[in-house]
Amino acid sequence: MRPQDIIRQKRDGKALTTREIAVFIDGVCTGAWEDYQITALVMAMFLNGLNEREQNSITRSMLHSGKVMNFDDIDAPKADKHSTGGVGDKTSLVIAPALAACGVAVPMISGRGLGHTGGTLDKLEAIPAYNVRLSFAKIKRVMRECGFALAGQTAEIAPADRRLYALRDATATVPYIPLIVASIMSKKLAEGLDALVLDVKTGKGAFIKTLAESKKLAAALCATGRSFGVKTESLVTDMNEPLGLYVGNALETFECLQILRGEMPEQAARTRELSVELAANVLVQCRLAKDIAAARKMISNAIDSGAALEKFGKNIELQGGDPRICDRPERLLNAKLVETKILAESSGFVSVVDPLVVGECVSIVGGGRVKASDAVDHAVGFKCIAKVGDRVKRGDTIGVLLTRTAKAALPVSEKLKGAYKISPKAPKPIQLVRARVK
Ligand code: URA
Repeated sequence: MRPQDIIRQKRDGKALTTREIAVFIDGVCTGAWEDYQITALVMAMFLNGLNEREQNSITRSMLHSGKVMNFDDIDAPKADKHSTGGVGDKTSLVIAPALAACGVAVPMISGRGLGHTGGTLDKLEAIPAYNVRLSFAKIKRVMRECGFALAGQTAEIAPADRRLYALRDATATVPYIPLIVASIMSKKLAEGLDALVLDVKTGKGAFIKTLAESKKLAAALCATGRSFGVKTESLVTDMNEPLGLYVGNALETFECLQILRGEMPEQAARTRELSVELAANVLVQCRLAKDIAAARKMISNAIDSGAALEKFGKNIELQGGDPRICDRPERLLNAKLVETKILAESSGFVSVVDPLVVGECVSIVGGGRVKASDAVDHAVGFKCIAKVGDRVKRGDTIGVLLTRTAKAALPVSEKLKGAYKISPKAPKPIQLVRARVK
């Protein structure tokens, strides 16, 4: 079957057969399909659509383009959380150790930051010598010893997604629900899970901007997870302002360690709240808690008692890093960074802190990537001092950009000011969890 024959089918608005989809994904993996043929078909899918059967076929072919992990010999429910991507979105670093402390085994395969969004692997690599390149065998060993492993996608896990995602990113075909579902679920289903919670971001800083579309994505992810035998639920959560206090790799890891140490600044409260909500959902799905209220208590207790911090320390040690960072998280911070303060231009209430603008600015100063192969600067970032709803006076510091040099801040400082809006009237409070979808 030639690529052009399959492309023609979709170009003309026809549904592809399961066989045609399998040939396409095989061509992505073997290199038999050229980049231009892959992107032509993906664009035709984007424009002419995929039905549910096609969506499931792509997911299945992508999943089986690599290996599926098997943790049956670990005597604990296996579960994970996955976020569709946001700004300051650092909950994995709280959720994984908290779940492990509650008896869940978490094989968390994470990604790197791209564009305005951050990635868990980059945050972890801010911990000196922390190793995210783990083989299956090592993931299992680490999980056995501390309850969770945090690793990057290897060539063994859904390899088709790597090439496909890079091409979608370069051809403006990321924001299409069936392709997002296939991309996310092919990787998550390879983890051999019993349960999965998805954090589907909605709003200005998310891939999907509207609540209605985000709910559709959440429902499609849940249906796909279930059709593959994994209990799956989604929380649609707000991404209309950066989550928590910091945006930037080391800074976000620092914020999570502060939460786990019970030293949380008030701006980080929502990072903790969302981490608790998502982790509690997992406990209920795994039947380790009788209801969500009991599950919230268990997770809060794992954090407040220091049990989650202890798990994180053990994990850092097992993955090659220095666990003493848990005792002195300030060692993650670079004292030589230059601070550029964003000042309130009027008095009133902060009504907007645009996460897309903040994420793009952090990326421009080196904290993120434009293309997947770019290196990131772990140290730089942004401190969101004033949050939506805060009352401020003209001249107050509402945000601080942290860069290597004063010159590095110049291209973004005006743009960052534009991320904020101050209004005379208090805005409606942002609701963190916008919908729960099963
Ligand atoms: N995250 C992914 O892994 N894939 C997508 O397509 C979008 C977000």
